[in-house]
Amino acid sequence: MHPMLNIAIRGARKGGDIIVRHLDRVQGLRIDTKQQNDFVTEVDRLAEGAIIDILLKAYPNHAILAEESGTHGSDEYQWVVDPLDGTTNFIHGFPQFAVSIALKHRGRLDQAVVYDPLRQELFTASRGEGALLNDRRIRVTQHPNLPGALLGTGFPFRELQHLDRYLAMLKALIEVTSGIRRAGSAALDLAYVACGRLDGFWEFGLKQWDIAAGALLILEAGGIVSDLEGGPGYLRSGNVVTGGPKVHKEILKTLEPFIAPNPNFSAV
Ligand code: IPD
Ligand code: CA
Ligand code: CA
Repeated sequence: MHPMLNIAIRGARKGGDIIVRHLDRVQGLRIDTKQQNDFVTEVDRLAEGAIIDILLKAYPNHAILAEESGTHGSDEYQWVVDPLDGTTNFIHGFPQFAVSIALKHRGRLDQAVVYDPLRQELFTASRGEGALLNDRRIRVTQHPNLPGALLGTGFPFRELQHLDRYLAMLKALIEVTSGIRRAGSAALDLAYVACGRLDGFWEFGLKQWDIAAGALLILEAGGIVSDLEGGPGYLRSGNVVTGGPKVHKEILKTLEPFIAPNPNFSAV
C-alpha cells in the first residue's frame, strides 16, 4: 500500500472514532449555523483537528485544505479533508455519514479514503491501482441505460434559487429510472457508485472536500466523473455527474435540456 494512503487511512479511522464516540451525545452538542441549513458541530472541528495532526505529523511540509479550518500551507502535495460529511444526518442520529480524505499531487487526485465509521466500511483508492472496499476490489456497475438504474442525488438546501430547475431534472430522471436516493452524504454517495450500490449520481454546488476522495474512488473503479457539460471541471464547479460509462452518458443527455439555457448552473 502507498505510504501516503496508509496515513490517510490512519486519519480517517481516528476521525471516525471521534464521531462515533459522540454519537450518543448529539443532544448536548453545540451546533453552529454557518449559513442557512449548513451546520457545524464541535465534533466536526475535533475530528478535523485530529486528522490534520496525523497528516502533518507524517508530512509536515504538505498543504491542507479542510472544510472547517480552510487552507494550511502551500506545497505540491495538498490534502483535501472533510472530517464529517453528512453533519445534518449526524445531528439527527441518522446513520449515514463519513470521513473523506483525498491527496492531490500537483492538482491531480492521487490517494483517496472515504470511511463510514458505523458500518466500518473503508473505501480506498490510489491512482492507477484500482479501488477497494475494505480488502475487496470494487467496480462501478455496467448498467446499460437508465431504465432499471438506481441513482443517488443531493437536493439543493443552502441557496434555493435553482430549486425549480433542479426539481425539473429530478422529475425527468425519476420518470426513466427505477429510483432515486438522497442519503445525505455526498462522499458516501460517490463511494456507493464506486462499489456498484448506485448506478450513478448527480449533485450541484458541492465543495471540493465533498467530492475529491469519492471522485478518485469512482475513476479507479472504472467509472466516469464529469461536470454538467461532461467536462473535467467538477472539483472547481462543485457540479458532479457520475456513473458507469453508459449511465453517465444517459444522465448527461437527460439533464442537457435543463442546462443548455444557462450553463452557469454552478452557483447553486
Ligand atoms: C454535505 C453532504 C450532503 C450534500 C451537501 C454537503 P456536510 O456535506 O455531503 O450530502 O448534499 O451539499 O454540504 O456539510 O455534511 O459536510
Ligand atoms: Ca461535506
Ligand atoms: Ca463536513
